[in-house]
Amino acid sequence: MAVSGAAPPAAEPLPRSIFKKFLVMLCSLLMSLYVFYCLADRCQTLPGPIIAAGAASEEEEGGGGGYLGGSAELPPWQAAAARRKRLLQRLKQRRRRQEAAPGEEAPAGGGGGSRAGGSGGGGGGGSAAGAPGTLPPLLGDGTKRLPQAIIIGVKKGGTRALLEFLRVHPDVRAVGAEPHFFDRNYERGLAWYRDLMPRTLEGQITMEKTPSYFVTKEAPARISSMSKGTKLIVVVRDPVTRAISDYTQTLSKKPDIPTFESLTFKNRTTGLIDTSWSAIQIGIYAKHLENWLLYFPIGQILFVSGERLISDPAGELGRVQDFLGLKRIITDKHFYFNKTKGFPCLKKAEGSSKPHCLGKTKGRTHPDIDQEAVQRLRDFYRPFNMKFYQMTGQDFGWD
Ligand code: A3P
Repeated sequence: MAVSGAAPPAAEPLPRSIFKKFLVMLCSLLMSLYVFYCLADRCQTLPGPIIAAGAASEEEEGGGGGYLGGSAELPPWQAAAARRKRLLQRLKQRRRRQEAAPGEEAPAGGGGGSRAGGSGGGGGGGSAAGAPGTLPPLLGDGTKRLPQAIIIGVKKGGTRALLEFLRVHPDVRAVGAEPHFFDRNYERGLAWYRDLMPRTLEGQITMEKTPSYFVTKEAPARISSMSKGTKLIVVVRDPVTRAISDYTQTLSKKPDIPTFESLTFKNRTTGLIDTSWSAIQIGIYAKHLENWLLYFPIGQILFVSGERLISDPAGELGRVQDFLGLKRIITDKHFYFNKTKGFPCLKKAEGSSKPHCLGKTKGRTHPDIDQEAVQRLRDFYRPFNMKFYQMTGQDFGWD
């Protein structure tokens, strides 16, 4: 029998093809395992300094210490894990804050649970908080948004107290430090400004406070060009006490400055007041407000009484929450009067279960000022105050 001389087709060696298939199967198995691992909520336990870095920047954010750092360049899977960890922390923190907010029922006359909709690129429709006992939907990592509401002034009015109190609200996220974007850092651009903001979930309001905006000529036009819908809040205080408070702050840093009286008067005998001194200038509220009204309707500016913020913080916070379209969650249950401090303090600060008063730089003892000088200043401010009451439709009771 003739045997064909042609060699049989060279079959692929068996072990190699099996090896290829095995490799493919192994890869898919590993990928499924990883997906399962993440779904089972274990990603956050993955080791690595990068995850810790993500958590640290979140702590900075919550602590209100400084600017927020941008996220580091991470491999995508690690970035996703870090994002997931941050989100889980945020959800946990939010749930804790909800538990800490006893007066969460619908308000007696206002807010109604709506959001700050229509205020410039802002919040969506529904509450960011999930229903009790249910897990809020995962909405991604949150987004850095330009602020929809800004506390624009006034210096020494009680702006820190207002921001700290507002931050207790689960639907308010705010930068702790003062960005000074619309006065000192405008040339850095909106992207820089946005990057300072904390991430917010749908329905949360982004806020910042920089009290010098109120007296910055360019600020109204600049804020309006960012968003015409920006809600503005001004904490005002008796301009005479405000000036003394301002002076007290400078004195604490520079103990050698002249007396308050000698800085106030150009000529003590004629009683001519030095309106170019910033401590005096800032308190001419009516003049500064005129500048804002060229760009914003009065209804878009809320005037908070610095005095009532001390005597009735919950009452003022009620007005602020209504203005921002927030549910009235911050109530008198959140405050207690600290006798040692001499001011209202929070029973529980944001993200904490401990009582919290403002620091030593808030609520300083003022030096004694000559009563005649005080009276002259009162006379000076009276017509401006009257005009201010007229413009705002509110009598702040300084006169
Ligand atoms: P004094 O230090 O002169 O008393 P700002 O935060 O805008 O710089 O304002 C500081 C002022 O906030 C303080 O001025 C203080 O009177 C006032 N303030 C209002 N509520 C306060 C609070 N709960 N704790 C401390 N200071 C408060």
